[in-house]
Amino acid sequence: MIFRMMKTNKSTKSVPRNLTRTRKGLGVDFTKVKPYNQDEEKTAQLARMFNVISDKYDQFNDIMTWGMARTWRRNSLLALKPFNPKQILDIAAGTGDMCIKSYKFLNPDHVTGIDISDKMLEMGRVKIEKANLSNKIKLEVQDVSAMTFADASFDAATIAFGIRNFEKLPESLQQINRVLGQGGHLLILEMNEPEKGLLYKGYQLYTKVFVRLTSRLLSSDKKAYDYLQASMHAFPNGQRLINILSENGFKLNKYRKFSFGVCSMYLVEKI
Ligand SMILES: C[S@@+](CC[C@H](N)C(=O)[O-])C[C@H]1O[C@@H](n2cnc3c(N)ncnc32)[C@H](O)[C@@H]1O
Repeated sequence: MIFRMMKTNKSTKSVPRNLTRTRKGLGVDFTKVKPYNQDEEKTAQLARMFNVISDKYDQFNDIMTWGMARTWRRNSLLALKPFNPKQILDIAAGTGDMCIKSYKFLNPDHVTGIDISDKMLEMGRVKIEKANLSNKIKLEVQDVSAMTFADASFDAATIAFGIRNFEKLPESLQQINRVLGQGGHLLILEMNEPEKGLLYKGYQLYTKVFVRLTSRLLSSDKKAYDYLQASMHAFPNGQRLINILSENGFKLNKYRKFSFGVCSMYLVEKI
């Protein structure tokens, strides 16, 4: 299959010049992209949606990312290694994969994972127990835009495939900034639609036919797949996201694209 042939791009350390010419998301307010209706708060709808799909999420994620999410998580975490963070916060922790990988790759003292979906975290707890890491990784229900942690509690924070869901992005980034210590790092991993050309056409075909079909078979919540696709289309990526990060107290340390740009990693530092 064409996607099996995709490999992680080795290095795109600087921000490419054409980032601002992104076609996607123009005119679409991503905070208005909601799973079920326009009236209710997005965060409440998301908690419900992720609760419903929690037992299928890992399979869902493998389908959406052609099984490459695992490699992307691991490769992105390597960027944090030189900073040797001891207290790590994983935001939008979901079913716990990033927490477990952080612990294994970065060998911190402790990892705290937060999420608004208690059912996603329940799935995560099972995996953490299986990995014998319950005393090293703690999961809590918390909304990133209103975290209860004390200032400067963490050396590093991570968000894997979560940021495009945040209803209150500036407030969330300011909260992350607050709970990080001086010079602390935030690592963001997020999916993008390919920009153009053959890859874009192949991607459209793959998502419209195979992913849609399989996801609908897998999930009892038919709207979840449509939301996940629409949110990817609407969320600002590349230079637009870097601008939002710098408006909210972070400076860019490293930007990298994986697998021909279908996934991006942003490593930023608290200023
Ligand atoms: C696509 S999942 C990503 C899960 C996991 N990080 C991974 O690598 O697979 C997105 C997660 O973001 C969580 N989420 C959405 N909005 C949130 C918020 N405001 N605060 C904390 N978590 C949130 C959802 O509940 C969901 O579990």
